[in-house]
Formats: sequence, structure tokens, C-alpha cells
Amino acid sequence: MIPEHAEHPGDSRSLLLRWRLFQIRAFAAFLVWMGNRAIGRDLIVRLRSRRWSRSLLEFALAYRRTFTSFTEAQASAANYIAAGHEHPDDIRYHISISETIRESDYPLLLYLAPIAGRLRRVFDLGGHAGNLFYAYSNRICFSPDLIWTIYDLPAKKAAGKDLAAQRAENRIRFASSILEASASDVLIASGSIHYFDQPLDEMLASLDGLPAHVFVNRSPWSPGNPLITVQDNRSYLVPCKLHSRAQLIAGMARLGYFLVAEWPVHELKLCVPLYPDLSARTYSGFYFKQKMAGADRRTLGQDSGTVATIGSENSLS
Ligand SMILES: C[S@@+](CC[C@H](N)C(=O)[O-])C[C@H]1O[C@@H](n2cnc3c(N)ncnc32)[C@H](O)[C@@H]1O
Repeated sequence: MIPEHAEHPGDSRSLLLRWRLFQIRAFAAFLVWMGNRAIGRDLIVRLRSRRWSRSLLEFALAYRRTFTSFTEAQASAANYIAAGHEHPDDIRYHISISETIRESDYPLLLYLAPIAGRLRRVFDLGGHAGNLFYAYSNRICFSPDLIWTIYDLPAKKAAGKDLAAQRAENRIRFASSILEASASDVLIASGSIHYFDQPLDEMLASLDGLPAHVFVNRSPWSPGNPLITVQDNRSYLVPCKLHSRAQLIAGMARLGYFLVAEWPVHELKLCVPLYPDLSARTYSGFYFKQKMAGADRRTLGQDSGTVATIGSENSLS
């Protein structure tokens, strides 16, 4: 969607904005293409380290550059396309996939299935209208006593309530604060942690009790420092952060979690044109467990503390 002031195709401002969007996207695609080659990657790293060439590149990339905060990223995006997570395309898409299991859901289900029947409290961070609950409950058997609490933006709550009513589902709740995740059995952040500026371990540290199991799925991670940029979903733009993978693992370890498994998510990638070296060519998923969750550890056969790496040859630090 083009911002309101640009919705009239005959309007010269609208044409200018359309041209600028085309230029930004074409240039970003070109840099991403270059960044996929060793020579191009070196050149981009060199150009971004010089002030004059960096300024030129950033001007050409506009909202596809990096920012120091979500507020700055949002302000830049809003100059081009006003819509964000509340865009109807986003709501329609997630409702339409509420019966669908994606490839990246299977590693999570592998670890969730053995404990599913015993769960009483699941907290779904960025859970949209509850699409994961419906998709997963077609594959695994949750208890009738389960409470599945969704935390998302207010615009998603109405869609989620309608969906629950249509399906006569009384296990779904909506939280108004992340603090409601306190002492959940499981916290799932699927496709969402990159939309939060605060690192996951800091969010968890503010809770009254830590969830025993934490799944982080379908998110892009930086192999170095974190990066804030804008994700271009064509009809809507959203600020997002490639959190540092190493900081995630270290932060979770500080809270007493151990990493049970990590898997690549080949369906998704997030390339930051000026940072080919820190881009996420695949998203990733992680399963962390509290060291004290002894009974579950026995059930899942993970007593050795060995990390399972699914479908990837990368070793874990
Ligand atoms: C890609 S969807 C993920 C939906 C679902 N969890 C899944 O894996 O299919 C990302 C969700 O994060 C939500 N989100 C983004 N920023 C948020 C914020 N600041 N607070 C709460 N939810 C947010 C969006 O509204 C959206 O529903």
C-alpha cells in the first residue's frame, strides 16, 4: 500500500514516490545480489566503512539501510509506506494459514509433542490470531485444561477472538502484557522475536517465574552484532532486528537455560543490503530448557545436555 498522499496515480507526488520505491527496491536487490558473491561482499564492506560512500549508499537505500532504534526505522519507513503489522494483508495471511504446518514447525513439534498432553500454560509471543495453536492442535493432542495465551498487537486481538468464537475454542486467551508469561510451562516466540527491540533474555528476566521450555522459531539472527532495519513486505513495512545469535545463547544460559536444539529455517531469509556479512541467509529455530526441568528432561531423553542440530552441518558453540 502506498501512503495516503500518494494514492492517486495521476498525482505527480504519487508518481515520484512510486519511482523512488522502485529505485530503492531495485538498488537493494542489486546490493543483495552483489553481497552473495565474495568480491561483492568485500566491496560493500569497504564502501560502507568510508563516510562519503556510506552516505550515498544509505541515501539510495532509504528505509532498507540500518538504524539505531525501532523509532528511527519506523519513521523512515513511514515516509514511503505507512502500513505496518496491522495491514489487512498480514491479518488475512495468518488467518489463512491457521490450518497449515510449515516445514519449520516440524522441529518444534518434535520437541513439543512429547510434553503437549501435560501442558497447562503456553504463552505465544507474537501469536497473531492463534494460528500456531490451531495448526498444532491438528497434529498433537493438547489437554482440554490447557490455557494458550497470545500476546500480540491490539489489532490482532479482534481477529483472534473472532477465530476462537467461530471454532468454539475456549482455551485461547489474550494477554495485555508480556509479564503474563510468568511461570508458563512453555513460551513460544515464532516468527516474532525480530519484531521486538529487547533481547529475549531481558524480557524473560522481568518475569516473576521463568517458563520451563522456550521455543524461538522462524527468526533471522546476526552472526555478529545486532542490526535494526526495515523488512519490506511490499504492501507494508515493519522495523525489525536481527538479534545476535551468540547473545541469545549466552543470555539464555545466564538465566539457567540450556540449548536443546537448533535448526535452520530455509523457507525464510533476511538480507540487509549494506551488511551481507551479518545477513540471515536462512532463519533459525531454537529450543531452550530450564536446567531444573528434570522430569521433562527425562521424558525427552536429553539428560546428556548434548545439543541437537537439525538439518545443519554447523556446529554449535
Ligand atoms: C510473522 S507474525 C508470526 C505469527 C505466528 N507466531 C507464526 O509463527 O506464524 C509476527 C507477529 O508478531 C506481532 N508483533 C510484532 N510486533 C509486536 C509487538 N511489539 N508486540 C506484540 N506483537 C508484535 C505481529 O503483530 C505479528 O502477529
